[in-house]
Amino acid sequence: MTVPTIDRPTKAKRGFMRVQEIIQQCGASESALIPILQKVQDEYRYLPEEVLAYIATALNISPATVCGVATFYAQFSLEPKGKHLVKVCDGTACHVRDNRALIEALQNRLGVTAKQKTSADKQYTLEIVNCIGACALAPAVVVDDKVYGQMTGERAVKLLDEIDAADKAEVAE
Ligand code: FES
Repeated sequence: MTVPTIDRPTKAKRGFMRVQEIIQQCGASESALIPILQKVQDEYRYLPEEVLAYIATALNISPATVCGVATFYAQFSLEPKGKHLVKVCDGTACHVRDNRALIEALQNRLGVTAKQKTSADKQYTLEIVNCIGACALAPAVVVDDKVYGQMTGERAVKLLDEIDAADKAEVAE
């Protein structure tokens, strides 16, 4: 007797199914484009080109319109980001409290630069951002939406070591 095979959706199909769900939640119209892109980016941590094309088709607008919005707003990334997003504040309060050494320590620890923001192992993306509203804690760093204040290069490197250790422990469980 032949056992019927189940047609499992491929990874790509599953991905588009999730995008389709997001479009349904937000509404399939051009006015919902920004919330759709925000939710899709939350899902993928960036906006893959093929997904932008899919959104354009689903909303019945041109791919150029979708790409134009995705590239206009700094919140959107067309490049894959690392598992952890590290934002170093370079606003005035942090700058005058010598965040330069902090930025250099993080760049050295991760092997990244201002242009090449994601580490080779795709664990981290380091972004240098404007004031994050935590000036009293300057110099400040945000890691995965959690704010860390009075950071030094040494403390920041230690923090990443702790995150790495926690990730390894999670994998070993
Ligand atoms: S300038 Fe860095 S938090 Fe405001």
